[in-house]
Amino acid sequence: MRQPPLINSKKTTPKLVCNAVWKIFGDFSKAAQVFDTQYWPPTQNELDKFNLIGAVQQASLEIYDGEIFVIMGLSGSGKSTLVRCMSRLIEPTRGEILFNGQDLLKKSNKEMIEIRRHKMGMVFQHFALLPHLSVLGNVAFPLEVQGISRQQREARAMEVIELVGLKGRENYLPRELSGGQQQRVGIARSLAVEPELWFLDEPFSALDPLIRREMQDEFLRLQNLLRKTIVFITHDFDEAIRLADRIAIMKDGHIVQIGTPEDIVLRPATDYVSEFTRDVSRAKVLHVSSIMQPAPKRTPKGGYGGTILQSAKINAIAAQLKSASKPFAVIDEDENIVGKITRDDIIDVLFEG
Ligand SMILES: Nc1ncnc2c1ncn2[C@@H]1O[C@H](COP(=O)(O)OP(=O)(O)O)[C@@H](O)[C@H]1O
Ligand SMILES: [Mg+2]
Repeated sequence: MRQPPLINSKKTTPKLVCNAVWKIFGDFSKAAQVFDTQYWPPTQNELDKFNLIGAVQQASLEIYDGEIFVIMGLSGSGKSTLVRCMSRLIEPTRGEILFNGQDLLKKSNKEMIEIRRHKMGMVFQHFALLPHLSVLGNVAFPLEVQGISRQQREARAMEVIELVGLKGRENYLPRELSGGQQQRVGIARSLAVEPELWFLDEPFSALDPLIRREMQDEFLRLQNLLRKTIVFITHDFDEAIRLADRIAIMKDGHIVQIGTPEDIVLRPATDYVSEFTRDVSRAKVLHVSSIMQPAPKRTPKGGYGGTILQSAKINAIAAQLKSASKPFAVIDEDENIVGKITRDDIIDVLFEG
């Protein structure tokens, strides 16, 4: 079972911070002075008046070491623009981006290229594999760019090819692979440099639902091994709640809510967010800890039917409690009893109480 990363904003420096980031498309330079002196931060009306597009507006977030941070929003809500601002593939118009506490906007272009090459990995929905290079050549390519020797880069490439389940196909050309396999090559290629920060922009959106699901499982398996810090973009709310430690929901350039899947489903901040959460099965997102009852002082008369972890999701333990006549003890990771839960508690959630 996946353990949530430790998130403690007071003790850990976030891996990445966005502070009031803006990206305005259109001819902003002409209007910049007026905006900075009179209209900052601008309203949608003010942007419209000058024919400007506020693709990202006042976006602030913190991403912590080892978490999967999902940015979810409909098409056009500003997800790709925001994620590109994080690596300065797109220059933010205003705001601050901190990577390991360092201000990225103060880095020269040359420094940014080095940071991207060595510390960041990127996977896009439609990224081009090099068609004339084999799987091995494609995966080793970013290492070649780094100037790593052939022997070393191919050894490393073989490791990641095996990691993503493509061992045996290292000499295939991209066109000899299925869509899902090509996406695995892209994933392997982005992992070859061992990025500190891994960006994936709708990596599975073009795949068929069954393959997409398989890739999501595969992605979670990889993350369990690698513990990367990940920014994952999707327009699919189900994908978001399956993968995310935390989700930021975007609408019209704004971040409207940031929270764990459970937070968002239980406490949607706006009607817009409620629309997404309405059809989500609560059993998929709720943990035992959010529906358990307080632990009784003494063990119940008939004893417990068994124990379950407080961090388990309801859908994962439903079968176990389906025919239980006794309550189960809820335990924490150190096996202390922290609550109890009954079959009826589970049924309430399953039938959306
Ligand atoms: N290079 C650009 N020039 C002008 N407008 C752009 C550009 N790139 C994106 N936009 C606009 O910015 C908004 C956000 O786009 P994008 O970040 O691609 O959204 P998403 O990834 O959520 O689909 C959209 O309205 C889009 O049309
Ligand atoms: Mg996009």
